[in-house]
Amino acid sequence: MSNTASNRPELPPEIARRRTFAIISHPDAGKTTLTEKFLLYGGAIQMAGQVRAKGEARRTRSDFMKMEQDRGISVSASAMSFDFSSFRFNLVDTPGHSDFSEDTYRTLTAVDAAVMVIDGAKGVESQTQKLFEVCRLRDLPILTFCNKMDRESRDTFEIIDEIQENLAIDVTPASWPIGVGRDFIGCYDLLRDRLELMDRADRNKVAESIEINGLDDPRLAEHVPADLLDKFLEEVEMAKELLPKLDPQSVLEGHMTPIWFGSAINSFGVQELMHGIANYGPEPQPQTASPREIAPEEKKVAGFVFKVQANMDPKHRDRVAFVRMASGHFKRGMKLTHVRTKKPMAISNPVLFLASDRELAEEAWAGDIIGIPNHGQLRIGDTLTEGEALRVSGIPSFAPELLQGVRAGDPLKAKHLEKALMQFAEEGAAKVFKPSIGSGFIVGVVGALQFEVLASRIELEYGLPVRFEASQFTSARWVSGEKEAVEKFADANKQHISHDHDGDIVYLTRLQWDIDRVGRDYPDVKLTATKEMM
Ligand code: G4P
Repeated sequence: MSNTASNRPELPPEIARRRTFAIISHPDAGKTTLTEKFLLYGGAIQMAGQVRAKGEARRTRSDFMKMEQDRGISVSASAMSFDFSSFRFNLVDTPGHSDFSEDTYRTLTAVDAAVMVIDGAKGVESQTQKLFEVCRLRDLPILTFCNKMDRESRDTFEIIDEIQENLAIDVTPASWPIGVGRDFIGCYDLLRDRLELMDRADRNKVAESIEINGLDDPRLAEHVPADLLDKFLEEVEMAKELLPKLDPQSVLEGHMTPIWFGSAINSFGVQELMHGIANYGPEPQPQTASPREIAPEEKKVAGFVFKVQANMDPKHRDRVAFVRMASGHFKRGMKLTHVRTKKPMAISNPVLFLASDRELAEEAWAGDIIGIPNHGQLRIGDTLTEGEALRVSGIPSFAPELLQGVRAGDPLKAKHLEKALMQFAEEGAAKVFKPSIGSGFIVGVVGALQFEVLASRIELEYGLPVRFEASQFTSARWVSGEKEAVEKFADANKQHISHDHDGDIVYLTRLQWDIDRVGRDYPDVKLTATKEMM
């Protein structure tokens, strides 16, 4: 089966075996635990606990990370590659906290599918709902994992109903749980006709898997206590009547989600989910770009930057641009064109992110994520090609919802502050506006927590204590239109005008009324709340 839309050509095998996805979930549903088990089965780590241990080692290095730990949120995102059976999985991590939604949105532009993790006792929580809606905007295929089935959980039908109702997506069971809470013994894999039994004694043991010849196979009764078996068979009967059958095409189109039940901490149901990603998750998909779409099977290499992370190692001011390969077969040392500046760039030290380390990427195929260390040339939204002037589109920058002024504790350090702010703006961690009247900067973010993270990072990475203070403005809009009209508008409204880190003109105000007035008084000028990053 080719896991792509029916009208698409067959992909070269190296590309067709790639699955690039993110996990979306509400904090505490089990994303970290599931990631760890993915890596364990992917052979990327030898022992459960390594991801967390590594996380802690990293956290002790900086208070920023400590803050992340204290709040129990994951602020920074990264990518991980590992193999599973004949597939190459690329897992891109998303920040779970809604204050970092812009970062999450951009991360989701780099994947072909998402795994939605929900807690079996809590169902669809607020953050899951929000992230799901972002996936919906792009019709991303979603595979669902209902976690923590080893604990008291909700009724299986109730969980499925809730997903269908709240997220308006068809749900089809890929497995069915047998027993609830303390009586939970495992699942029946409806796609592969196997009985999977959970071992509570050994959390890292792969479940015992018994091949079954359909639901009337007498062997079921040998492994499942009679009372549980009766209830299970009754439920599956009902599920068959009430719920839609798995339709792979509908999954690929994002209209249907298959759901697996399991317990990440007990390593249960995880392998079945991984088989699901391999078998029903999409192959690398075409990328929207202008002036034409980029298809993964194209011979020539193209890729785009969806994330920039600076100071990953505070000792070296390195910056890594995370690049999603959109087409072709990249080899280390290749010279690519940086389309925004039209300059050639030799990619000599690309890195691949393996679970426990980074390693030089000798090659990469469409679908892969590589990191390119650089000194600031690569920005979010940038496209790299073998020469053609293609620009990947659909990576937006959102107008901030909170604005604050910022000052260095030491006024003599204003220049340093500017440098730090520009870097965070390029990283996409905040919007930075320089008002045309007066001195200082105005920083804009989507969620309040971002201010805290910024202040903490500026202090840590630049040794610069800063103060955020109330700003007279609350909204920002990008200004566009014919040059003359924009200049006339800017001249007449100087007290509202600022420039962002790209030098684009931004209108700052505290009143919606002002924005409406501009619409009336300057019909040739457009104010927008999003800007395409390229
Ligand atoms: P997150 O990244 O989505 O925030 O969740 P994470 O994996 O950190 O899991 C949140 C908590 O849920 C952790 O407990 C974790 O051990 C627990 N958990 C994950 N999967 C399962 C499961 O299948 N069953 C049960 N019963 N619990 C599960 P914690 O007490 O916060 O942390 P820890 O002390 O266990 O590390």
